[in-house]
Amino acid sequence: MSPPDPLLAIALAFVALGLLDRLGLWMESRGWIYWRRRRARGSVLGTTFLELQKIFESGKTEHVIEAKQDGGKESPGPSAGRLAADHAEIDLLFREARAAVAARRQAEAHRAVDRLWMRLAVHIRAEHTVLFPALAETRPELKATLQTLREDHDVFMATLATAVNTLKGPEVDWAAAQAALVAVSSRLGPHNALEEESVYPLADQFPDAQRRRLVGDLSRELAALPRRYEEG
Ligand SMILES: [Fe+2]
Ligand SMILES: [Fe+2]
Repeated sequence: MSPPDPLLAIALAFVALGLLDRLGLWMESRGWIYWRRRRARGSVLGTTFLELQKIFESGKTEHVIEAKQDGGKESPGPSAGRLAADHAEIDLLFREARAAVAARRQAEAHRAVDRLWMRLAVHIRAEHTVLFPALAETRPELKATLQTLREDHDVFMATLATAVNTLKGPEVDWAAAQAALVAVSSRLGPHNALEEESVYPLADQFPDAQRRRLVGDLSRELAALPRRYEEG
């Protein structure tokens, strides 16, 4: 048997290498191996890869944060939810009272403002006797905020009591009654927003047992409406 032609052997080797190269390229195109391109590691490709990874990872982080924030908005804790719901119900009473005063129907206006006063008084009592003492004990940084809220409460109660008396007399000063409701309403909006955003959520951060006791006490206080209110 004659020795193989060296030229033929070289040609076959080139063909084999060519086939191997094509096979490598094909496998690289499928993402199975790195063939002609080097694995991205500290190179320009590596930098791009890292940038993309950062974008994906930061996107993921943002979504997680958004989901957490959305979750917080959708489901306030039981104490925060109970007190915020009470705000909403008081807002409805406020609308009724303003409509009755604007229409100058004395008996209806008196009844509506009286009911508003009673309902707000009960809400404020729950804050003063249950919520604020619990927060003052554990959150000394809230001292100034709680003081501001208490001062607002005093203004609400005094102003509405004056309006109730105004509506009771034989000669009603409708402008004074209306001004009283506007004054309370314009201060009650930011007051409620401050409570709902910065104060109520803290009530749901107490340890389990304390949190349950707090929501029970709040519910009991908020439900203890005067007989006159129930009969109205
Ligand atoms: Fe309040
Ligand atoms: Fe409140």
